[in-house]
Amino acid sequence: MKSVDSYIDLHKDRFIKELFELLKVPSISADKAYHQDLISMAGAVEQSLQKAGCDLVEIHSTKGHPIVYGEKIVAPHLPTVLIYGHYDVQPPDPLDLWDHPPFEPIIKNTEKHPDGAIYARGACDDKGQLYMHVKAFEFMVETNQLPCNIKFMIEGEEEVGSSNLDTFVKANKKKLANDVILISDTGMIAKDIPSITTGLRGLSYVEVEVTGPNRDLHSGLYGGAVANPINILTKMIASLHDENNSITIPGFYDKVIVLSEEERSVMAKAPFDLQKYKEALQINVVYGEKGYTTNERNAIRPTLDVNGIWGGYTGEGAKTVIPSKAYAKISMRLVPNQDWKEITKLFTEHFKNIAPDAVKVKVTPHHGGQGYVTPLDHIGYQAAHKAYQTTFGKEPVPQRSGGSIPIVALFEKELESKTILMGFGLNSDAIHSPNEHFGVWNYLKGIETIPYFYQYFTALYQEVGG
Ligand code: BES
Ligand code: MN
Ligand code: MN
Repeated sequence: MKSVDSYIDLHKDRFIKELFELLKVPSISADKAYHQDLISMAGAVEQSLQKAGCDLVEIHSTKGHPIVYGEKIVAPHLPTVLIYGHYDVQPPDPLDLWDHPPFEPIIKNTEKHPDGAIYARGACDDKGQLYMHVKAFEFMVETNQLPCNIKFMIEGEEEVGSSNLDTFVKANKKKLANDVILISDTGMIAKDIPSITTGLRGLSYVEVEVTGPNRDLHSGLYGGAVANPINILTKMIASLHDENNSITIPGFYDKVIVLSEEERSVMAKAPFDLQKYKEALQINVVYGEKGYTTNERNAIRPTLDVNGIWGGYTGEGAKTVIPSKAYAKISMRLVPNQDWKEITKLFTEHFKNIAPDAVKVKVTPHHGGQGYVTPLDHIGYQAAHKAYQTTFGKEPVPQRSGGSIPIVALFEKELESKTILMGFGLNSDAIHSPNEHFGVWNYLKGIETIPYFYQYFTALYQEVGG
């Protein structure tokens, strides 16, 4: 690849400045109040794709936030790579835990990022990572080295379940036709341990409501005689795990693919320092399902977690009350072969079954999605492998992630193509948390590595006679 290093050297200040402009827009998809910001964010992405060299760029409005589509078709006989990313971000709350306002990006040096890290909501998830692709593309167009066709599809609803993208993909299969999908929206093990994400977990997200008496009651007058929905809800939740931290919902594990000992020992070879892991989180011990290592619990095993629980009086001081209602938000991370709709149904039935007669239970499903595994013998994986080897000087480690990008399984089903996950973030980058950041080194390394993917992918594609 001609001069990618020198191109980056020459333009890196501009690359950072341009990313800052995107990071200033509070494109929070979960909150309706920000709809205008999502619209202007889509416009900014559109412009960036035009400037970088797309021949065609379109904004598709949806029932929710717009989808930006861009393409550069070099020649019909060449392979086509579809880049997916998302310009929406998670809400920045709690705001008081940010050292600097979340939509006023700045660079700070840290121990992990001595060359500086960009602090802002979305710096790593996913504006910084999607913009690496725009700049890598700019480099290839500018230096006349684009070896294949490129399509971009950048959405604004990933953080809220991608339901409108689902519709868009089903309706635009021809437009989106491709030979491989490339996404940078995950992480890598460490700056000196490059890795490729080879799996994502599925997700089922539900909300539960437990109702006791028809109104809040005096806890002295009625206490002891009437069911307290918070007491009941916590008991029900506690019963969802057994003494081995296995999930007790009947049928929950039925479809889980059990990895062979050989597969598990390959996984165990990925570098991992338990001591450092605990130190970074300031915990004394790790905690999880019996019989599995930390990495296994986090990647190849399903989980059930309460994300939030509320009810009754939580204001200042004391109020003596038996609440009428109690609520919880519960997520289940799923592994390949578990079907999220089926799991949602199993959860709902079980949760209703275990409720005592003293309360009524309502379960409302939110969003969900299937898990995904990248086949290591795919030429897309091999191209990514070679690209990392070229720019890191080391073989990348395949690693299954605990996170979810539900739309990836839909891509496989509807577009019949595999997704390669080349993530450049670190677990310590605090995505979804206060003080999210993305290393400048990581950002530039992504821009440097991506062009090699195109080059190797095109070569491998032509080799196998595609
Ligand atoms: N980029 C993340 C997913 C991710 C991060 C995967 C790091 C692997 C490593 C994505 O934006 C995300 O946050 N996904 C949500 C699911 C979505 C349906 C809200 C998640 O995993 O909680
Ligand atoms: Mn993301
Ligand atoms: Mn996210």
